[in-house]
Amino acid sequence: MALAADYKLGPHTFPRGWFIVAEANELDAGPKAVRFFGNDFALYRGESGRVVMLDAYCAHMGTHIAASKSAEIVATDKQIEGDSIRCPYHGWRYAPDGQVDDIPYHDGPCPKSAAIKSYEVREVMGCIMMWHDPEGNLPSYDPPFLTEWDDPAWVRWELDHLGTIDIHPQEILDNMADCAHLGPTHGAPCEYFENEFRNHVVIQRQGGFHHTYGCYLSSITWYTGPGILLSKQDFGGAITYELIANTPVEDGVTRVWHAALAKAQNIPHSAEDIAAAKEVQAGALHAFSADFDVWKHKRPAIRIMQLKADGPFNLNRKWYKQFYDTLDNSTIYTDESNGIHQIPNFPAPSKDAQYLEEGLKL
Ligand code: FES
Ligand SMILES: [Fe+2]
Repeated sequence: MALAADYKLGPHTFPRGWFIVAEANELDAGPKAVRFFGNDFALYRGESGRVVMLDAYCAHMGTHIAASKSAEIVATDKQIEGDSIRCPYHGWRYAPDGQVDDIPYHDGPCPKSAAIKSYEVREVMGCIMMWHDPEGNLPSYDPPFLTEWDDPAWVRWELDHLGTIDIHPQEILDNMADCAHLGPTHGAPCEYFENEFRNHVVIQRQGGFHHTYGCYLSSITWYTGPGILLSKQDFGGAITYELIANTPVEDGVTRVWHAALAKAQNIPHSAEDIAAAKEVQAGALHAFSADFDVWKHKRPAIRIMQLKADGPFNLNRKWYKQFYDTLDNSTIYTDESNGIHQIPNFPAPSKDAQYLEEGLKL
């Protein structure tokens, strides 16, 4: 296991950006204790439907606000009041901004110093996404979104939870520049390939004959920040979308999710439509599992021996470094990486491949 410092990513240990911290339906069972970025959090849905994320520990005596399932107010479903949450130990009530706004046995104003940190969260495409920023700034860009999510012609996904892996997300991000693994790992050697870096977004365009599916595969794949990948794929005329998300849990330990979106034949969807969409997601997961397996068993590549015929690994790493430095300094990395990068003596996408990104919000 290698750490952020081993890859010389700093000064921050954890990156800035939008990250998945839960699947939205996980909050149906009540408040949830989660751990990411070496920190414990309390995540819950208020009565208005709003999702709130707070630092986990109560200022009074350090109780984890969301971890108890047996305390009386939790077991009797009285922990959430409006969009506020009561600590299960003595009932101090925290508002969504982290201020204590009621102490059941105390007259007079609640101590301002009891406030705990509240984090920016959004519910997007069935996921709870958190803005993580070591500097504590508000989001500098919006989380990614596919308009197909709101289109009844598409079957909404449920996430595959791949759990945690003892690998730094740097090794996962390397995949964006990795042209040469597509044949040996996925059975679909690319016939054209390029990367584009656009500030907080990195794009990969590639295509080639897919030996497993027996058709031509073209794809455009992009990370919106360091944590969330979306991909639009054309398998011989059938369009699907894929999501791959990584969120640091500890330095060098990463949680991973996966999902796919497929179009249905009928509105409302028939049982066959839903089964077919699940099959698409299972196929995508099978392909992704080949990457996951490699990551699980590889040693860290602190340095990559980048050949001319590899994709721009080192530039991709430079792009990724922006998220570990201050927002003000991020342009140091984007100034160097922004633009389109192709592999010498290897075909770039033809103009025909542009149809794939029409209407996408990259
Ligand atoms: S520890 Fe939370 S109210 Fe006392
Ligand atoms: Fe891959």
